[in-house]
Amino acid sequence: MKLGVLGSGKGSNFAAILRAIQAGELPVEIALVASDVPGAGILDLARSAGLPTLTLHEPRYRTRLSPEVEESLVAALQAAGVDLVVLAGYMRVVKGPMLDAFPRRIINIHPSLLPAFRGIAAWEQALQAGVPTAGCTVHYVDASIDTGEILAQTEVPVLPGDTAETLHARIQQAEHALYPRVIRDLANVLAP
Ligand code: GAR
Repeated sequence: MKLGVLGSGKGSNFAAILRAIQAGELPVEIALVASDVPGAGILDLARSAGLPTLTLHEPRYRTRLSPEVEESLVAALQAAGVDLVVLAGYMRVVKGPMLDAFPRRIINIHPSLLPAFRGIAAWEQALQAGVPTAGCTVHYVDASIDTGEILAQTEVPVLPGDTAETLHARIQQAEHALYPRVIRDLANVLAP
């Protein structure tokens, strides 16, 4: 199975997926790594690993891609033979061109126990709400934000004295274990 990975940030989830592949624990291939942020860490990691990368240039919008740019992304993913699109810290809303091209083939990791705390900086939302337990969720992507069918979740405790940074770091450790495991399970089901 071939993955296309999309990210906007430092790429620690992508790095965890790559480590699992290199350790022989995840029998998939990464066919393309794309980012909407020129210079994003995820692109550097991909290049260091010798993987093909794509930088998306979107001058018009901040929260989504314009249809033409999203169509160019679809074309690149299809040309690379991608079976499953993995959002790893991709901070734009996925729209029609991608959803039509990859029905139930786009997954996302979100740093909360969905349906709680959708949207931006979910760990800060959890801290402000005073919940005792935070976590992370892997889910299918649909046309809304962080609402798609849930595939798996991991709970993470909120500890006394936690700051946004310490809580997010603990959630990210859980993400790095959860995401490769869910992708492996999906690969077993979806493998041609
Ligand atoms: C991760 O914590 C991920 O859950 C979050 O962005 C971070 C990316 O980190 N995604 C979202 O908030 C999506 N709504 P990374 O670049 O180190 O993988």
